[in-house]
Amino acid sequence: MSNTKPTAKTIAESRVELVHLMGPGQANGLGNVHGGVIMQMADEAGALAAMRHANSYVVTVVMDSMTFIEPILVGQIVRASAELTYVGRTSMEARVEVTAENPLTGARTRTNTAYLVYVAIDNLHRPQPVPPLVATTPDEQATMDEARERQEYRKAQRARDEAARAARSGSGPASR
Ligand SMILES: CC(C)(COP(=O)(O)OP(=O)(O)OC[C@H]1O[C@@H](n2cnc3c(N)ncnc32)[C@H](O)[C@@H]1OP(=O)(O)O)[C@@H](O)C(=O)NCCC(=O)NCCS
Repeated sequence: MSNTKPTAKTIAESRVELVHLMGPGQANGLGNVHGGVIMQMADEAGALAAMRHANSYVVTVVMDSMTFIEPILVGQIVRASAELTYVGRTSMEARVEVTAENPLTGARTRTNTAYLVYVAIDNLHRPQPVPPLVATTPDEQATMDEARERQEYRKAQRARDEAARAARSGSGPASR
């Protein structure tokens, strides 16, 4: 195994954009695009940004809440633009912005923003280290600082959930 430290990469190097024309197969009962289609697209875009950074396969470990600001209609062009905002040792946060475009007028609306966390995995599906992420502007540094706070919050939440699970399994009927 190599001992060389992975070379740091920029946010720009992780950027990807997925573009799809929404058809009737993606519609819900109201004729709007199904929310799950947009969630899948956001997950794919975020995963591609993470894979591009890590140069490895990744798994999704967290998808933060996703708010649908505007409905997306059949016949619109949907874009999911993803970039990394944070990396830990093996985990990476991606921000995904979703926009819908009317192909006849070119008018675009922002419909969602989602934050997802991925973990780079080796060929035995174990977490593996990823290259550091470097900020090239003060705005990018601010983005990374905010992302670090979100990830610290998630880790604290995970620790609370695990402690609650352990307490429940220790206080179940069998142990009384
Ligand atoms: C992701 C996975 C490999 C992590 O395995 P693990 O044994 O929990 O490994 P770790 O505890 O070392 O966590 C790995 C990294 O993920 C982060 N992580 C794990 N759970 C997390 C959570 N709920 N929130 C935020 N980060 C989390 C850890 O903080 C760690 O990050 P770091 O290395 O940057 O510090 C494992 O949970 C898994 O395989 N999950 C299923 C993933 C999957 O199948 N996704 C598809 C959707 S079904």
